[in-house]
Amino acid sequence: NPAPIDAAPVLAWYDSHARNLPWRVSPADRAKGIAPDPYRVWLSEVMLQQTTVAAVKTYFLRFTSLWPTVFDLAAAPLDAVLKEWAGLGYYARARNLHACAEAVVNQHGGVFPTSSAALQTLPGIGAYTSAAIAAICFDEEIAVLDGNLDRVLGRYYALPVPVREAKDELRAALQASVPKRAGDFAQAMMDLGATICAPRTATCMLCPIQPGCIATKTAAPTVYPLKPAK
Ligand code: ADE
Repeated sequence: NPAPIDAAPVLAWYDSHARNLPWRVSPADRAKGIAPDPYRVWLSEVMLQQTTVAAVKTYFLRFTSLWPTVFDLAAAPLDAVLKEWAGLGYYARARNLHACAEAVVNQHGGVFPTSSAALQTLPGIGAYTSAAIAAICFDEEIAVLDGNLDRVLGRYYALPVPVREAKDELRAALQASVPKRAGDFAQAMMDLGATICAPRTATCMLCPIQPGCIATKTAAPTVYPLKPAK
């Protein structure tokens, strides 16, 4: 079993380097007991599937000004939601988004369920999105594993095989690393993947998990994780 990641330096790094994003509650505010709004976290996570943070920001601000709560979004005509979605692509996501808002209002009184298991019963909410919402909003101690984390972990463990051949091991290693501040940890790891351990460049000298990282000890950390043979 691979050694877990030491969460303490990851959280310390996040305390001073967290990106300021419109759906996010800063680590200082989170420590005061201020929790993020599940509606806003859900909306951002659905938008962030296949779309960059930079592009999502504008759409997120527009959606939340038109529809500040899940009640507003559920009451909106589907046509209006699809129109505002234009440019984000994958219109099935927008249809699911509207269906999910209706389900939260009609079946849950407008309150998002708080566990990843319950969240997964909603339209368009799969393993990733349910884990992200439960961790970020409710500090459920669950692994939040997306494509960026595949890369960070693939490097940390200098994975000798393509990610798809080691998904279960990566998930188990990440799960074993999750601390009590599960939401901040999840967001810290995403920020790490976006800024320090980026696809083409790894700025290892700034990385809070460099001490345990195996790829950083090699000549070319960014060759990991290995690409599948064509
Ligand atoms: N990408 C997807 N979800 C994210 C989040 N919550 N923070 C930063 N980047 C993300």
